[in-house]
Amino acid sequence: MRIGVLTGGGDCPGLNAVIRAVVRKGVATYGHEFVGFRDGWRGPLQGETRTLGIAEVRGILPRGGTILGSSRTNPFKVEGGVETIKRNLADLGIDALIAIGGEDTLGVAAKLHELDVRVVGGPKTIDNDLGATDYTFGFDTAVNIAMEAIDRLHTTAESHHRTVVVEVMGRHAGWIALHSGLAGGANVILIPEQPFDVDAVVEHVENRFKTNYSPIIVVAEGAVPADRGMITRDEQLDAFGHVKLGGIGNWLADQIEKRTGKEARAVVLGHIQRGGTPTAFDRVLATRFGLHAIDAVHESDWGKMVALRGTDIVRVQLAEATKELKTVPMARYTEAEVFFG
Ligand code: F6P
Repeated sequence: MRIGVLTGGGDCPGLNAVIRAVVRKGVATYGHEFVGFRDGWRGPLQGETRTLGIAEVRGILPRGGTILGSSRTNPFKVEGGVETIKRNLADLGIDALIAIGGEDTLGVAAKLHELDVRVVGGPKTIDNDLGATDYTFGFDTAVNIAMEAIDRLHTTAESHHRTVVVEVMGRHAGWIALHSGLAGGANVILIPEQPFDVDAVVEHVENRFKTNYSPIIVVAEGAVPADRGMITRDEQLDAFGHVKLGGIGNWLADQIEKRTGKEARAVVLGHIQRGGTPTAFDRVLATRFGLHAIDAVHESDWGKMVALRGTDIVRVQLAEATKELKTVPMARYTEAEVFFG
């Protein structure tokens, strides 16, 4: 078979590990041939490819980013997009596609599958918010980066008797905030799933100062103050209808400083959480996803996504995986509340 591979959406550490595993097993075990599509769905849409063989995947296992590039292109928002993709795949002699992405990229894959495109998906995102899989790769690396930042911020906050608000990524799901906040011993964790009351946060901050510790507050970029809406950077929507988030950290630090009379600073971790080398956990998970994705393709098991269930890699329907986001259940958030204040 001649198989196209693409990576779409926000990049994350581990993408190159999947690409490597797909190509290594695909060539060595099955004798398949590969074509890399550039920048997510933009590649098949514009017929833009790059060579993808054993030589191209040498040495990429520990590298962050994606050698194929990524974008948030949505072919369903482009006039005649689906027909163009089908025509380009036929012209390039592509028998099947492996799409690696999050809910947007795989949502496109699910719809294309219904329109008879032969596709298999692999789940990535630092947000860990994809349904049907226990973990996506990229998440563990992001959490470790955020945890290290929190550890460092604890010591400087203590020296200056300040509150530090750490803003982490997480548009609709607070997994990064929850895990990094728990691992880093945050004083308060705020997630998009649970609108928060600024007065309650201020009370936690005051309590913390009473015991001579400086408060560290971890806030997901999509967390919402109960008495006002989500804080966004601008109102422009991307091809999948998302606004640019960011700003909640500074807004909250401002509120805390005003209400407590003590200095509060915000640190926005942003894309640092998505850059650099993947952790061992993410390298192994991404590699296993790649090995199983090429098996699914070889067996013509179209419309599937590889997923982690416990310690096993299984196949699930792409449509099921992209049906709804996996958000933080209230019980998981309540567990963490023991450490607030
Ligand atoms: O989906 C992954 C993610 O990192 C989100 O946590 C974040 O909201 C978004 O991507 C940021 O996207 P961009 O890099 O396009 O600004």
